[in-house]
Amino acid sequence: MTPGSRRGPAAVVSGVGSALPAQVVPNADLSVRLDTTDEWIRARTGITRRHVAAADETTTDLAVQASAQALTGHPAGVEALVVATTTPDRTCPATAPTVATRLGLTGIAAVDLAAGCSGFLYGLATAAGLIATGTAGSVLVVGADRLASLPDPEDRTTVPLFGDGAGAVVLRCGSADELGALRPVVLGSDGRGADLITASHPGALRMEGAAVFRHAVDRMAAASLQAATAAGWELSDVDRLVPHQANSRITTFVARQLGVPYGRQLSNVADVGNTGAASIPLLLAGAAADGRLKPGHRTLLTAFGAGLTWGAVALTWPDLPHTLTPERGRP
Ligand code: UT7
Repeated sequence: MTPGSRRGPAAVVSGVGSALPAQVVPNADLSVRLDTTDEWIRARTGITRRHVAAADETTTDLAVQASAQALTGHPAGVEALVVATTTPDRTCPATAPTVATRLGLTGIAAVDLAAGCSGFLYGLATAAGLIATGTAGSVLVVGADRLASLPDPEDRTTVPLFGDGAGAVVLRCGSADELGALRPVVLGSDGRGADLITASHPGALRMEGAAVFRHAVDRMAAASLQAATAAGWELSDVDRLVPHQANSRITTFVARQLGVPYGRQLSNVADVGNTGAASIPLLLAGAAADGRLKPGHRTLLTAFGAGLTWGAVALTWPDLPHTLTPERGRP
């Protein structure tokens, strides 16, 4: 097929949901226990607060809550579930089978994948493959992370960056010319940068911030251009750029490199920080609920994360009558 041609079956977005822990930690709280200030954090990252899970509130809990919201209007549920996470409750078993069972979907295909903050886009591509092969007629893709648990609590360079949350999207089999149809997903990795972001266990996150920053800008800009081209779009066609919410300086640089005007860039980093694999679906759910993202908007998603990994995909945003305002309470 030529780039941008729109024949045949496709994975089509038909629901979106999100979940945030009730506990909010503003920058001022961090400056009480760390050698930092609200001004420094806001100026360097754009973050003003983040949601942090309670000790007994798990990645699974957040994933279930976001999924239940995304499944509103889907009484039959879905035939497969992909959970993208770097912070599963346990190393074994995977998160997804428990999430499926708690949603009343015992028996469906259910798998975790780990691709750092790019995990949600890898999940979308996996779901599109499951749909294209006829393995599943509908797939729930969840990004869920408790990244606030990863930094050393004494490390002022990483603690302010991360928050907890989950976002979920339902994909169904539809046709490529429908609103909501995913275009080709661009994915990539570079293991030479594996040591730039590492975490062997909670409290042990290590990050080379400045190097990560440069790679994030370059990779997200390049992947975005590739995904737009694969969809047959010019960058000037993009109505909404939805970059992984790592840091507002990173996303501003990406938008600038692509020539996407500031007003077309969606952001929630100020309120939630970097929520890992949850970042993009959390932003989609919030923006769809409050009208920043409207049916017909040509939307470009892009992410970058540990691995290194990255990705991007284009879609025209669908009409989702069941979109709810993101819940802020615990399940
Ligand atoms: O999904 C990808 C995940 N990773 C990321 O998103 C991180 C990408 N990197 C970044 O966002 C930025 O590199 C940071 C926000 C982490 C750091 O910003 P920066 O402009 O690269 O600062 P820096 O690391 O070069 O540090 C500048 C100064 C240093 O002090 P000295 O050595 O110049 O005296 C740091 O010690 O700022 C100091 N610093 C802080 N000061 C106050 C670092 N963290 C803090 C802090 N409060 N929280």
